[in-house]
Amino acid sequence: MGWSNDAVAGRMPVPRAALAAIPAYSSAPASEVPVVVRASSNEAPDGLSDLVRIAVLERLETANRYPVLGAPDLARALAAHLGADETEVAAADGSLSLLNYLLLSYCTPGSTVVAAWRSYEAYPICIRTAGAEPVLVPNTADGGHDLDAMAAAVTDSTTAVIVCTPNNPTGAALAHSAIAAFLARIPERVLVVLDEAYVDFDDSDDVPRSRELLAAHPNLAVLRTFSKAYGLAGLRMGYVVTHPEVVRTLRKVLPPFPVSSLAAVAAIAALDDQSHRERIVQTVIEQREAVGRMLAERGLPHTRSRSNFVWLPLGERSTQLGRLCAERGMSTRVFAGEGIRVSLGEPGLVAVLTGAVDALLGAAAIS
Ligand SMILES: Cc1ncc(COP(=O)(O)O)c(C=O)c1O
Repeated sequence: MGWSNDAVAGRMPVPRAALAAIPAYSSAPASEVPVVVRASSNEAPDGLSDLVRIAVLERLETANRYPVLGAPDLARALAAHLGADETEVAAADGSLSLLNYLLLSYCTPGSTVVAAWRSYEAYPICIRTAGAEPVLVPNTADGGHDLDAMAAAVTDSTTAVIVCTPNNPTGAALAHSAIAAFLARIPERVLVVLDEAYVDFDDSDDVPRSRELLAAHPNLAVLRTFSKAYGLAGLRMGYVVTHPEVVRTLRKVLPPFPVSSLAAVAAIAALDDQSHRERIVQTVIEQREAVGRMLAERGLPHTRSRSNFVWLPLGERSTQLGRLCAERGMSTRVFAGEGIRVSLGEPGLVAVLTGAVDALLGAAAIS
């Protein structure tokens, strides 16, 4: 509108002071070369389930109508899928929205929320948005949560704890027994959010058994998403499984229509097409093994990933590898000075990443 900052100085509403501390959400580095391999956002590889396509196109015809209040079909489908009661489930436009609503429901101004770091970069943003202060506990050397230190960081002022498994961006996963022991140490007045966005890719022997954990801990809320293994990131659909009392509280702040009618039918169809999810997971796991082997052969540091991305803690070299990937048409996510995260699943990724890694190592050998 042509306003300069100077022209409006002192003439605008004043935002909450806490917002000044909110960091910006990062994005893939800009590149002159068009992106042909998207490895920056932990999405599923291309290709939509036919069942989802048909369901969405059908529902599109009545997109002039509001969704049914409470999305009962979706609630029924999710509850059946989880072996849960409908009163234990709430859906919204992505699991990140649900995290925001959960924190808004339980955090009091100035209270603290404990999370691991580095973990999902949105956590400090959500915590501050809810008016709370993040207490970020450094990961262990292998990129895993330091659950002892996280439990010790809980104080009288703590209203919530966020646990992410597998952890974004390090890929480290927590065993069921470790989470169960952790939950036993957390006071029941503290909400524990277990973010399982990537749990489908965790092929370890001791994947968290959320139903068991939920049965023992009414203060636990498990977040899941259709953005990753179900390949529906663009439709925005996530859900929380938790005690009905938490769902009742959450519904006070949820908008009346938190899920679009298209996302709702897509999710129901996606639950019916588990073979599509299994194909996505299989593609990722095969590529994860190939990338792991390639990196190990070259002696490049990387964590053991149980997710749909790999994390290379390359410190100052991270930006350089990000640039080499971008020059080859591959987007990645660089956390400058720390590491680079490469999302898995896209065709051709292994060859492009290998070329970039070899260029990085070749440059190091020359210099
Ligand atoms: C750990 C984690 N949780 C939640 C989300 C958000 O998922 P959704 O698309 O369901 O909002 C992401 C997205 O990248 C994530 O990495």
